[in-house]
Amino acid sequence: MEKSLNPAIVELPRIYDPRGNLTFIQTGDSQLPFRIERVFWTYDVPAGETRGGHAHIEGQEILVATSGSFRVNIFDGRSWRHFILNRPYQGLYIPAGYWRTMDDFSSGSVCMVLASTIYDEDDYIRDMDRFLKISGVDE
Ligand code: TYD
Repeated sequence: MEKSLNPAIVELPRIYDPRGNLTFIQTGDSQLPFRIERVFWTYDVPAGETRGGHAHIEGQEILVATSGSFRVNIFDGRSWRHFILNRPYQGLYIPAGYWRTMDDFSSGSVCMVLASTIYDEDDYIRDMDRFLKISGVDE
């Protein structure tokens, strides 16, 4: 698994407007290190639930809290990092090869995900032991 890049918050363009602000992201922008192949979002997450619990072999993602807030917990096989997403003009870039969970969803929150690949279950690692093996951490 390629793990040369680091997870990081990316600031997205903000168009201030008295009618309401606007944020966008598009292929070719420097904040987006991949071509978007898929967009999906989770919503109506019950209080106390955890989503995610997997890593991707190839897939890269940017997560955006388009509404509300939630926490993203990222594990590289050795240590965890935590990011609170609560701004619709910020994204969290997750390179391939990182285990992630999402929790602490606020009521009405929406987690929008921009993904570099179409959905393919073969790109998922959903077993922590397998993740640790592939990461080379248990060697
Ligand atoms: P899952 O990966 O468990 O969601 P999360 O990581 O957000 O908790 O996906 C839940 C189900 O949805 C699973 O059966 C696969 C399916 N799914 C798709 O069909 N297409 C998609 O683009 C995604 C992300 C999931």
